[in-house]
Amino acid sequence: MLRGVLFPLALSVTLLLPLAGSAKPITDLKSLKLDVPAPDQMFPDGPGADAINANCLVCHSEDHVMNQPTLTKEGWEEVVEKMIKAYKAPISEEDASAIVDYLVRIKGKK
Ligand code: HEC
Repeated sequence: MLRGVLFPLALSVTLLLPLAGSAKPITDLKSLKLDVPAPDQMFPDGPGADAINANCLVCHSEDHVMNQPTLTKEGWEEVVEKMIKAYKAPISEEDASAIVDYLVRIKGKK
């Protein structure tokens, strides 16, 4: 009766042991190619550029913002609010107002 259990057990040990020995240590390191925003994918320089580059490129590209129609100051305030409230962008109040000023300057509705 014991044979019925031992045989399949012995068989699986014999079959699996060589596999255990064949797991090679990882010696090859592959370098990753990461898409870090290049300078031409960042917002144009100017007051507030640092704040918008640091806070707004986390989730989408600069052209996603630059291709929008021009907005009034209230319009840009609403967009930045929405990024913070709806999409949970962790942006400080200070940065948010610098970003709104920046957007009004480069994409403000006259
Ligand atoms: C936490 C992620 C996140 C961050 C950070 C973020 N956004 Fe967005 N944003 C989104 C998402 C999600 C959408 C909607 C994308 C879509 O519709 O394809 C969006 C859409 C937009 C749009 C398109 C218009 C609209 O209302 O949908 C604009 C403009 C925009 N974001 C500007 C900004 C600006 C400016 C900042 C920095 C203050 C910013 N975003 C930071 C997530 C983010």
